[in-house]
Amino acid sequence: MTIRHFLTLRDLSKNDAASILSKAIELKKSHHSGQYSKVLDGITLAMIFEKSSTRTRVSFEAGMAQLGGSAIFLSSNDSQLGRGEPLEDSARVISRMVDIILMRTFSHANIERFAKFSSVPVINALSDEFHPCQILADILTFIEHRGPIKDKVISWIGDGNNMCQSWINAATLFDFRLHIACPEGFEPSAKLVQEAGSRVRLFRDPVEASRDASLVTTDVFASMGQEEEREMRLKKFKGFRVDHELMSTASENAIFMHCLPAHRNEEVSAELIEDEKISVVWDQAENRLHSQKSLLLFLLGHQTDQA
Ligand code: CP
Ligand code: NVA
Repeated sequence: MTIRHFLTLRDLSKNDAASILSKAIELKKSHHSGQYSKVLDGITLAMIFEKSSTRTRVSFEAGMAQLGGSAIFLSSNDSQLGRGEPLEDSARVISRMVDIILMRTFSHANIERFAKFSSVPVINALSDEFHPCQILADILTFIEHRGPIKDKVISWIGDGNNMCQSWINAATLFDFRLHIACPEGFEPSAKLVQEAGSRVRLFRDPVEASRDASLVTTDVFASMGQEEEREMRLKKFKGFRVDHELMSTASENAIFMHCLPAHRNEEVSAELIEDEKISVVWDQAENRLHSQKSLLLFLLGHQTDQA
């Protein structure tokens, strides 16, 4: 059987994505009524983290427990990976012992190398280039709040980073229009933008990018690994904060999302993120749990009606 990895959203067909999301909605209902089906009894997820995490770690670990399986947390600091054991060797060893592996790392090429040598599915739990797990939760959240995302305008304000690049992949997978506003020098990969065709447009002005948007979303100006650029970036991203004033230029019922952690009064105003009429960030964070449980079942080849 071919191993299904989830390294970017491009690993999913439109049908795969739709079935993962519809199963996620079912799993969310079961979770809220306290009903769990332990279909992953005996199944183990290894979680390799080379960067910090709250949401990703907790949602995958809790998700595995709720499905009857278990998760092993491996930080690169206290595994042999941190002492230089090659990724290729680690992948071959760990995948002989567990059923599925996630990895959060720096270069996306690390995850690709790891996946190449793994005999079980590998999930990208964030790389410098992509964060596809977050987008599954984000699309689920949009659908819950505003219905189908197809043909809607989604506005990305800020850095052309891993989140922005995953939104670009999502524009193709889910057929929406993505308007990106970023300062010069902080654009997403030109190749990705070009491949997405007319669905993705780049702007310099956040107001123009937000016009007609049903969703305005952003992320930190300095991502993990860019701590030394923080002061420089705060200057360059002046004018790219999402606040009530910017939201007023979007569609009338536009919502706000942020993958979190957020830096209040940097990329988003404190008032906006706390305004639960517009900001859906807590639902978005919760949906990591449901969408990833569904993703796990999908990658492990479980019939979607079993859990
Ligand atoms: N959004 C997200 O991935 O959060 P963590 O870094 O806390 O996992
Ligand atoms: N762009 C951020 C996302 C954190 C979830 C980072 O990579 O640090």
